[in-house]
Amino acid sequence: MKKKRLLTGLQPSGALHIGNYFGALKPFADDYAEYDSMLMVADLHALTSTRDADALRQNVIDIVKDYLAIGIDPNQAILFRQSDVPEHTELAWMFQCLVTVPFLMQAHAYKDKVAKGLEATAGLFSYPMLMAADILLYDAEVVPVGEDQRQHIEYAREAASKFNNAYGETFAAPQEKIYKGVGVVPGVDGQKMSKSYKNTIPLFGSTEEIKKAVMSIVTDSSGSHPENVYAIHKLFRDEASLDALYKEHSGKYKDLKEALASDIDVFVAPMREARANITDADVCEVLKNSAEKARERASLKMAEVRKKIGLAL
Ligand code: ADP
Ligand code: TRP
Repeated sequence: MKKKRLLTGLQPSGALHIGNYFGALKPFADDYAEYDSMLMVADLHALTSTRDADALRQNVIDIVKDYLAIGIDPNQAILFRQSDVPEHTELAWMFQCLVTVPFLMQAHAYKDKVAKGLEATAGLFSYPMLMAADILLYDAEVVPVGEDQRQHIEYAREAASKFNNAYGETFAAPQEKIYKGVGVVPGVDGQKMSKSYKNTIPLFGSTEEIKKAVMSIVTDSSGSHPENVYAIHKLFRDEASLDALYKEHSGKYKDLKEALASDIDVFVAPMREARANITDADVCEVLKNSAEKARERASLKMAEVRKKIGLAL
């Protein structure tokens, strides 16, 4: 039986944090072996927030190491870089010619980013159509993401439907996969954890870096239960043992934070060790092999698309 296709991507825009892990990477890693899986480095998307070429190059290498270190086997998933497949931008352009400006204007992520001071470039505005292309180019059926990306998957469905209505059935509707209870992992300030808010607990941080971040979690002084600490802690322990721990250390915020830092460290340590053994050469090898596989799939699909649109004579 043909396997369903699973695809997700993350932007190489800074060190990954535990929100990225529980929101997007874990839902991918948990199931990827049962699917025909693709894991992308969304480097073209990262251009919406960086103009530092050296930093981008380094972030790409780092994120591939992260993918490998969490246990993704490059023989079981196509682990590729978006910019290695030019068809993504080509298909994105076609979608941009099908959706309207008022439709794109409703995107929460765009509005949030502009409100946070990111320049309102045309690239940032049309970002959801590049993401739709990432997904639809490969007929991906399931897309693991965090809650903040839910609307972007809806946008991808809309792009598929607009295209199908105009040119005939070509793209299947993708479905998001969002884990209950981890759709929005809070940061140390209680807001959504995000690379761009400087409120993260790094996934591959050292013991000291993890401890420092955890100790800085904002707690209110009322009650015995530090909500922000608990909300993160429940990702690492089952409810019964967590409740027992919080009862035992009731009101002792420092002890509870130390327990959380230690639990995170124990969880992260094996991945951190695995990551230390992955070289830049390993990364280049993986990207080279995967680019070929991804391109092969993309060129097949785009041959069909160009024909339907009237671009192939
Ligand atoms: P960031 O906001 O840190 O820049 P990205 O936009 O690169 O993160 O997101 C990469 C993936 O991680 C997406 O699927 C996104 O939904 C998920 N994600 C990011 N932050 C969180 C969070 N705090 N909780 C759950 N998932 C998250
Ligand atoms: N926009 C996503 C984010 O910021 C990253 C992304 C780009 C993506 N293309 C994708 C996620 C395709 C899933 C599928 O997190």
